Formats: sequence, structure tokens, C-alpha cells
Amino acid sequence: MLDTGETREPILEVNNIEVIYNHVILVLKGVSLTVRERGITALLGGNGAGKTTTLKAISNLLHSERGEVTKGSIVYRGERVQHLDPAALVKTGVIQVMEGRHCFEHLTIEENLRTGAYTRRDGRGAVEADLEMVYSYFPRLKERRKSQAGYTSGGEQQMCAIGRALMSRPETILLDEPSMGLAPQLVEQIFEIVKAVNEGEGVAFLLAEQNTNVALRYAHSGYILESGRVVMEGTAQALRENDDVKEFYLGMSDKGRRSFRDVRSYRRRKRWLS
Ligand SMILES: Nc1ncnc2c1ncn2[C@@H]1O[C@H](COP(=O)(O)OP(=O)(O)OP(=O)(O)O)[C@@H](O)[C@H]1O
Ligand SMILES: [Mg+2]
Repeated sequence: MLDTGETREPILEVNNIEVIYNHVILVLKGVSLTVRERGITALLGGNGAGKTTTLKAISNLLHSERGEVTKGSIVYRGERVQHLDPAALVKTGVIQVMEGRHCFEHLTIEENLRTGAYTRRDGRGAVEADLEMVYSYFPRLKERRKSQAGYTSGGEQQMCAIGRALMSRPETILLDEPSMGLAPQLVEQIFEIVKAVNEGEGVAFLLAEQNTNVALRYAHSGYILESGRVVMEGTAQALRENDDVKEFYLGMSDKGRRSFRDVRSYRRRKRWLS
């Protein structure tokens, strides 16, 4: 049977949240989504759709940007988590990998990975074992472990950022735009690793991506955001086969290849919500 991920238990539930920046700019206008245990959930949409804002709302990183959740709730394993700071959230098992693959440039790859274990209290042995676990998924990082992160390639830095998150032994990783700025072959490699970590370690992913094509090939289910609203949701298979998704996000319609940017969002919304 095809695994759509729909049979897994929900662990993270975002219920109808609104986010406002600078007290006035309403960016998320009632976003709801569910992340399932051990599943890969894609959060799709173009530039400025609200993907990063959604991830930051979940991990409580909006304050530094003068943003706040003004409505709705965010619940992880039955507990509201809006009051938790990012470090406390890491302890409950949720960690965000930020857009732009943030590594500490002056530290080596291995030092970067070790910083990911800072919230843990289970001793050196466990951390050493997890370093080997991370290297088993990212052999490239093992080769480069003594290199200063600032001098490694974009792909290696993305791997380092994901590996660093894994060192906190998370249950759920919020991964923002892992494909950004990487060549197609490397994007594929990164997604293969995400899939391997998902299957091998049981880590759930909420994956924000503009690259609909690759994300829907690896995710179990997905949501499409436009201007701060979810305009479509479903299993990855249903989304891949949907005519509007094909036309506007996958560029595969009968009418020839078109980017969703070519079409006014008004028209798309009208079709999807009617
Ligand atoms: N700190 C901020 N202050 C005011 N507006 C912001 C701020 N951060 C983001 N925005 C606005 O919120 C909207 C959503 O941005 P967001 O970064 O969440 O989109 P995104 O889907 O992640 O886009 P991208 O694919 O380009 O990363 C955009 O219109 C953006 O201009
Ligand atoms: Mg973004």
C-alpha cells in the first residue's frame, strides 16, 4: 500500500493562527496545519507567501522581528507551546533549521555539530554516538569535519545545519527552504538525506519549500500557502495529480509550461476557493 502518511498520529497542530508584524502588517490570515508523527509535511508557496513566518511562529522566533501571533493556537503533543522560548521548545523535541543554512563560520564542521547538543544532559557518550549517527547520514560532513564551516560549500553548509539540528535528538525538525541556492543534483541529495533521516530515525519534518516539484516527491502530505492563507492541502500524491497544482506550481499543464508567477493570484484564489 502506498504510504500517504495520513494514518500517522498528529503531533503538531497549528490552529487558525494570525501573525502581525509591527502591530499593523497582517501576514498570516488564519493558517491551520497538522504535522504527523514520523511524517514529512511540505509547506509550499511562492515568495512572501508566509512559509517562514509560519515556521517562526511555531518556534517562537517572531519577537526579534517585531512579529506576534495575535490569534489561534499552536499545540505540540497536546500542550500549547506559544509561551516556550526556542531553547525550551528544543527540549520538547522541536527544532528549526533556519533559511540560509546558519552555521558558525569560524567553527569547524564538527564543532558546529557539537553545538547542536547543547541542550542535552545525557552525557558525552550519547553525544559521541550521535555524532557518528549524523556522519552516517552525511558522509560528506565526516570528510570535512575539520574544515572551518565558512570555507565549505553551500551544500555542505546546508548539511551541517541539518546535522546540527539532529544533534539535539529532535522529534520534529522545521526545515526552511533547504533547496535555496543549491544546484538540482545537490537538492536531490539533501532531500534523499531528509528521507533517510525520516525513515531511519523517525524524525518528522515540516518542510517549507518554493521548490514544489522536489518537495512533493519526498513529502507525505502538503499545504499550499498564498498571501498568508492555506489555499490547498492534501496528500502529496493528490497534490501532485491536481490540475491547478500541475499548472501553477509544477509547470506541466496541457497549455504548456507556465510559472505560477505569470498568473495573477486573484485568479488562482478564485478557482481554488470557489
Ligand atoms: N520582519 C518583518 N516585518 C514586516 N513584514 C515581514 C517581516 N518578515 C516578513 N514579512 C512579510 O511577510 C510576508 C511573508 O513573508 P515570509 O518570509 O514568511 O514568506 P516566505 O513564504 O517564507 O517567502 P520566501 O519563499 O521568499 O522565503 C511577506 O510579505 C514579507 O514581506
Ligand atoms: Mg521563507
